Amino acid sequence: MEKLVVKGGKRLCGEVTISGAKNAAVAIIPAAILVDGTCIIENIPAIKDVTVICSILEELGAKVEFLDKYTVKIDSSSVNKYTAPYEHVRKMRASYYLLGALLGRIKKADVALPGGCNFGSRPIDQHLKGFKALGAAIDDCAEETGAIYAETEGLIGTNVYLDVVSVGATINVMLAATLARGTTIIENVAKEPHIVDVANFLNAMGANIKGAGTDVIKIHGVEKLHGGTYSIIPDQIEAGTFMVAAAATGGDILVKNVIPKHMDSVSAKLVETGAKVLEFDDSIRVIGSGTIKPVNIKTLPYPGFPTDMQPQFVSLLAASSGTSTVTESVWESRFQYVDELLRMGADITISGRRAIIRGTGLSGTQVRATDLRGGAGMVIAGLMAKGETVITDIQYIDRGYENMEEKFRKLGADIKRIDD
Ligand code: UD1
Repeated sequence: MEKLVVKGGKRLCGEVTISGAKNAAVAIIPAAILVDGTCIIENIPAIKDVTVICSILEELGAKVEFLDKYTVKIDSSSVNKYTAPYEHVRKMRASYYLLGALLGRIKKADVALPGGCNFGSRPIDQHLKGFKALGAAIDDCAEETGAIYAETEGLIGTNVYLDVVSVGATINVMLAATLARGTTIIENVAKEPHIVDVANFLNAMGANIKGAGTDVIKIHGVEKLHGGTYSIIPDQIEAGTFMVAAAATGGDILVKNVIPKHMDSVSAKLVETGAKVLEFDDSIRVIGSGTIKPVNIKTLPYPGFPTDMQPQFVSLLAASSGTSTVTESVWESRFQYVDELLRMGADITISGRRAIIRGTGLSGTQVRATDLRGGAGMVIAGLMAKGETVITDIQYIDRGYENMEEKFRKLGADIKRIDD
């Protein structure tokens, strides 16, 4: 089993280049199923979730070829299967995008229920509501067997109002509606940057989607999509993780290949903690002040503060000079990693969806990554802690961060991966 060993206390300085966005890649790769031709997708992050979704596409009959580490060529013209087996699907949450893409392209989908990180109940009722509205029949019994079976004679555009602002449902219904007959209007949609990226990808391949990034998305169905080349946006959460690392270690990091606008809520909170944040065209420099001021945070859908940055900030605030509160309003249960921080000497009380964090010193010990971003939080804590922190279960971190320890090492961190 691989572990990360971090010796804390080093000031991180230098430049880091951010990879392509995980949450865009895991949606755009299945979206390629809708394309009747070959698409070339650039700036793909070299992470586990990408490997998994690419192998699922191959099993469905697509030809998937990496032209280099970050560029994948996908030819979906031979996709002829519609069953995504549990062995693959359980490894990643975003496999639910296969439902929308397969329904749209071959009118049938049999996809096992998703795995990924456990933040309490993670329903997909809004995805299914959208598919039903578009004219798909969903087999409820299949839900009991751990898979969703959906089929349609042909999807027909309609109005869909999402009861919950959901990233996954917004993208999934958009995928299904791309090749539907007529116009689909999805209301109360999520506005995350990767939703805009998926819409831009589909439009570049011939789709007619307007409004992504606003509350309402309008999709005029087209008969087919053609091939093309598309480059994925930089990863907002990876960028945020390195920005927090600069503040956490009193360092000075230039985070390159970012879209500063996507980072607004994170930058604003870092400034409140006392860090200096300088924005350039496609990079952000964060200079830590050495003292971390306490702040209050509430996670919200974009453009609010991202839930996927919550653990990294809680780790940062665990070493602040006062008391902070962090309220999680997206996921019902996303504080599992806090137990690990307590073992490092943090003083945190959880009350429902709120963490009350009294700043204290952290000391290294053995902790585990409870999930992907919780794992990133452990690395931030390890970088700040006195002594050595050993992080186990790092397969979660590998799902979504490309070469995390190597990037940190180049910034001066004392971090290594060991294999027991
Ligand atoms: C995506 C991200 C994840 C991030 C989350 C919120 C990917 C692959 N993952 O997850 O990293 O934490 O957005 O920014 O992009 N909900 C329902 N019914 C549904 C769908 C969702 O009630 O049908 C609820 C969820 O339980 C949750 C909230 O809506 O409380 C937001 O979930 P959603 O935006 O769908 O998250 P994901 O797309 O799964």
